[in-house]
Amino acid sequence: MRFDILSIFPEMFPFLIDYGIVGRAVESGKIQINVANIRDFGEGPHLMTDDRPFGGGDGMVMKPEPIFRTLESIPRVEGERKVILLTPQGQRFNQSMARSLCKLQQIILVCGRYEGVDERIRSRYVDMEVSIGDYILTGGELPAMIIVEAVSRLISGILGGATSNCEESFEDCLLEYPQYTRPRVFQGDDVPPILLSGDHEKIRLWRRAQSIKRTLEKRPDLLERANLSERDKSILEELKQKKV
Ligand code: ADE
Repeated sequence: MRFDILSIFPEMFPFLIDYGIVGRAVESGKIQINVANIRDFGEGPHLMTDDRPFGGGDGMVMKPEPIFRTLESIPRVEGERKVILLTPQGQRFNQSMARSLCKLQQIILVCGRYEGVDERIRSRYVDMEVSIGDYILTGGELPAMIIVEAVSRLISGILGGATSNCEESFEDCLLEYPQYTRPRVFQGDDVPPILLSGDHEKIRLWRRAQSIKRTLEKRPDLLERANLSERDKSILEELKQKKV
């Protein structure tokens, strides 16, 4: 998987590329991240990347030619690729989008700035517009990093444990169960005894029930889409009765 990030602030990305899971994946060659500086392809002697909007109005718009030339400079990887524009107008990013993006061979992330990018870039070259949430940031750089991180960690072999990425929150629309580690007693608060029982089936059932309980308490909206067994449903009913 190769990520190409188009930005006028390439200096923002070493933090993403050099640390943590993404850093390790880059180091081991499982993913490649290339940051292309749109300013290198700017217009005129001052390498301009933005200009005033036609029709007037506040702010600046990113010019189409520098973005086009940066896109053209990016080598094509064999396989499926998508050009994604980060914008608050896009489709909302979530775990299931991360899952479908992780099947691609190349993801090109265009980071907009200012009042946006010239509409002709969006209409001619962008396959998908993505937003990370209903709030306005000053640019697409942080959203691009979030997407690279969420997608990279799904690529097989990047996470440590074999099952750790399929058991996580949101994969089946349930939140994760509570986790404990040593010490057994922290400030008088003991670890639930079942976790020390060594009975793996009991532990699995307890964790499932805890996931359902947490989801009901914190994100009941997720339960409508959750994949629940008959047993899960009866746990949920019981929890709902207790609540009222
Ligand atoms: N650019 C500015 N705000 C954004 C958001 N919420 N998501 C994606 N790109 C953005």
